[in-house]
Amino acid sequence: MKSISNSSLDTTVIDWPVHMQRAIDLAQRVRTATPNPRVGCVLVKGFEVIGEGWHVAAGEAHAEVVAIGNAGKTNTCTEAFVSLEPCAHTGRTAPCSEALIAAGVGKVIIASLDPNPQVAGKGVEQLEQAGVEVYQLVDFEDQSREMNPGYFKRREEGIPYVRLKLAMSLDGRTALANGQSKWITNKAARSDVQKLRASASAVITGINTVLTDDPSLNVRSAELPENQDGLESGAKELAHQPIRVVVDSQLRTPGTAKIICNEGSVKIYSTADFTVGKSLADNVEIVKATVSGEGVDLQFVLESLASDFSCNEVLVEAGPTLSGAFIEAGLVDELVVYIAPRLLGSDAKPLLEIHGLQSLAESHQFQVSHLDRIGDDIRVILKQAP
Ligand SMILES: NC(=O)c1ccc[n+]([C@@H]2O[C@H](COP(=O)([O-])OP(=O)(O)OC[C@H]3O[C@@H](n4cnc5c(N)ncnc54)[C@H](OP(=O)(O)O)[C@@H]3O)[C@@H](O)[C@H]2O)c1
Repeated sequence: MKSISNSSLDTTVIDWPVHMQRAIDLAQRVRTATPNPRVGCVLVKGFEVIGEGWHVAAGEAHAEVVAIGNAGKTNTCTEAFVSLEPCAHTGRTAPCSEALIAAGVGKVIIASLDPNPQVAGKGVEQLEQAGVEVYQLVDFEDQSREMNPGYFKRREEGIPYVRLKLAMSLDGRTALANGQSKWITNKAARSDVQKLRASASAVITGINTVLTDDPSLNVRSAELPENQDGLESGAKELAHQPIRVVVDSQLRTPGTAKIICNEGSVKIYSTADFTVGKSLADNVEIVKATVSGEGVDLQFVLESLASDFSCNEVLVEAGPTLSGAFIEAGLVDELVVYIAPRLLGSDAKPLLEIHGLQSLAESHQFQVSHLDRIGDDIRVILKQAP
């Protein structure tokens, strides 16, 4: 495989970055293909785009196969632009490297290698062995990784990418002293949270939130902003419900909780000895977790979600205690903070329970990555500082 940068492209291939950007844009037409990565593919003959495709959901055809199907006839003059190395193994579908070879594609241009050990260079190898020229457009590698942060993190570090959602008043409060919190933020911000859930393999909450608010934490397609961002519309998203996860040491989650009664799979991480063999409902799995400090070991929870349930991106929607614990453990990759233009006063409940800091040097530092107005609220997206 030849690695090539945009600046070194000669005039015969000057359009390659345009096609690769298109493949990356197509990949992002789905919020999630969990446990698979988002992938897009563009087939070009001469200067003409003859086929496009993207992977809609696990079990459905991969991007390359969709693009080949749309293109009809291809031949050795055809170039395939794929946002991720084509797979080389048989999973729920046949290998894409074989599909590209069978379609007679002459050149395959990828943005990034696949970190999945079942692929990791083997897709490139199979293509090259069949006489297909393979190039990596290295300037697109960052975009390819950034649109699949959880897929790369699970494969490389063994834990999912963690997004922590927080909704607060202008003075950083989340509820009145009497517990009243519905709703601090406006409808548009709450609808935006539906997008976060729809992108997530799992939504994690704390037992106190379950007991206090009895949330559903599911994706409600009617509340998703319609057909925005050029995404596939409702049908596929309706089919995807993130796993609901409760961090609950003493297994206090009631069998009547909405999180259990609504459709979809639920995992409860508990440290209590009596959890072994206990069941609450058919859709609920109780996982015996290790202990850290006074609670469930959150690193264990993430490792288990990655290895046992193939979770790529997870969303934490919890109260100040569990949210603060995730930050203190250094496990948060991204904060999504909704700020409502109202003041709740100093008796109101804090955003996070984080204690014991003695100097600013010990403070948890993030970098602002996006700042947007959502209705009358503000949304700030922050990433962990390097
Ligand atoms: N503004 C927002 O974005 C937002 C979002 C969600 C909830 N809330 C509000 O938050 C309030 C509840 O917050 P909360 O802080 O009391 O509860 P929480 O964060 O939902 O749950 C905390 C509980 O989780 C359990 N836990 C187990 N292992 C833990 C660990 N390693 N670290 C931390 N907790 C662990 C503990 O109970 P056990 O020891 O029994 O296991 C702990 O008391 C509700 O009033 C709700 O309205 C606000």
